[in-house]
Amino acid sequence: GCRENNRKEQLQWKKPCGSLVPGGVGSTVYVTRGEKNMHKGLLFDLDGVIVDTARYHYLAWKELAQELGIPFTREDNERLKGVSRNRSFEIILEIGNRQMEEAQKEYYCTRKNGIYLEYLQTLSEKDILPGVQEFLEAARAKGYRTALGSASKNAVFILEKLKLSESFDAVIDGNKVSKAKPDPEVFLNGAVALGLAGCDCIVFEDAAAGIKAAHAGGMRAVGIGKPEILSEADYVIRGFEKITIEEIEQEIM
Ligand code: BG6
Ligand code: MG
Repeated sequence: GCRENNRKEQLQWKKPCGSLVPGGVGSTVYVTRGEKNMHKGLLFDLDGVIVDTARYHYLAWKELAQELGIPFTREDNERLKGVSRNRSFEIILEIGNRQMEEAQKEYYCTRKNGIYLEYLQTLSEKDILPGVQEFLEAARAKGYRTALGSASKNAVFILEKLKLSESFDAVIDGNKVSKAKPDPEVFLNGAVALGLAGCDCIVFEDAAAGIKAAHAGGMRAVGIGKPEILSEADYVIRGFEKITIEEIEQEIM
């Protein structure tokens, strides 16, 4: 079976690996596309993969941290990538060696989201990262099913602003999962929503926690960003600019 095959050398992806689950929960699979790759799925993280919102998350947390007198660097911020809003704040408190009542944590998380949403006000199609639209279109034309797998509770709102909602057959976001990456829940739910087994899916992630989540779900993982940070990924690309689905197929299938 393919379940435990995470490493490139062991990969075999010549045919579907598991039973299909047609019309899984939340699935809106389109049947009008090419049939060739209908048994394969691409699962995309949102922040830092589809759109450069990772920057705004950082700026919003930085503002709060400063207010609380907690030093917070870009390096610290790496630990927050892919992590839920509440957990992110707990990490910041840990960095500052501070403790806080639940109600007060709640207050700061709500404020952080307020600051973050202000940054998102002007968000539009122009903020989609280079090459993403082309990559999605080409993959879907080849028959791949696509899903979003994000920890963000703002994911649906962001996809609408980017006019990208139609590019995904399913959306699994922070409102639909209880366990944060590196737990594979978000991606496993994505695979189910596409009617696919985990091992028939490839995950695209900018966070180390997301790469771990993909592997824990028996999926291959393409890292988006710096190889030093994403050393566990099966393949790392800087972004989708000039990257073709054929290149990904060649590298990791
Ligand atoms: C992830 C980001 O996608 O979503 C994290 O990488 C963020 O940095 C998390 O904390 C939760 O996002 P939101 O929009 O629900 O606060
Ligand atoms: Mg991300």
